[in-house]
Amino acid sequence: YLQFILWSYRMNIKPIVAGNWKMNASKDAVKSLVNGILSGMGDVSAEVLVCAPFPYLSQVETLISGSSLMLGAQNLNVNVSGAFTGEVSAEMIKDFGAKHVIVGHSERRSLYGETSEIVAKKTKAAIDSGLTPLLCIGESLDQRESGNTEAVISEQLTTVVRLTGIEAFKNIIIAYEPVWAIGTGMTATPEQAQAVHMFIRNLLASSNQDIAEKTPILYGGSMNAGNALELISCPDIDGGLIGGAALKAEDFLQICKAG
Ligand code: 13P
Repeated sequence: YLQFILWSYRMNIKPIVAGNWKMNASKDAVKSLVNGILSGMGDVSAEVLVCAPFPYLSQVETLISGSSLMLGAQNLNVNVSGAFTGEVSAEMIKDFGAKHVIVGHSERRSLYGETSEIVAKKTKAAIDSGLTPLLCIGESLDQRESGNTEAVISEQLTTVVRLTGIEAFKNIIIAYEPVWAIGTGMTATPEQAQAVHMFIRNLLASSNQDIAEKTPILYGGSMNAGNALELISCPDIDGGLIGGAALKAEDFLQICKAG
């Protein structure tokens, strides 16, 4: 009975669909992509955001003005300002109307040496400035095959909880992105994804049950128009973080409608 109450409560949480464009954009492409998304937003009840590369934040801000489409960035520096050549702060991101920022994406962890400690600091910097972090966590194929998925997820998540405190998760969106599913076309099955999402929620619940129930946990990794509905239908999957399929308005909108 209690499970049912919690589940029905969770049914009221609005699904979130976020596009991560990664390093794919041009002024022309951004214009047609955003206008394409906006033209179909009337049928979408999910919360939708696009995470653009830094140089395009301004252009997207203008294009989405007055609509329900939201803007996010893909990274941030932990410092507020100063001599950090090439870096971008939370305040700068906010200056362009962005409300969200991706932190801890597996590409940043593996290609740019971001440890869980750095990711925790970035999560805190985002929250301190009023941005909502999309905190990405997920295991590699090796880690899954050696039976370490839960240990990896646990280390990535608890490092953040230790620094920010559990209360901060009132303003955090988690994205479970199994590394082996990113850009590979090898989507996690709904059963595989649901199992990890439930593990993540239980991990949060060990600190605070109420916050655990309310924290949105998105799935990311080869989510597309064809598989979005069955993934998002899982009880602990609250939406998606989309890479490749977020670059085509039609595909992205179909995922948004699934949400
Ligand atoms: P794909 O949807 O291209 O697999 O990318 C997922 C992702 O990394 C989103 O952040």
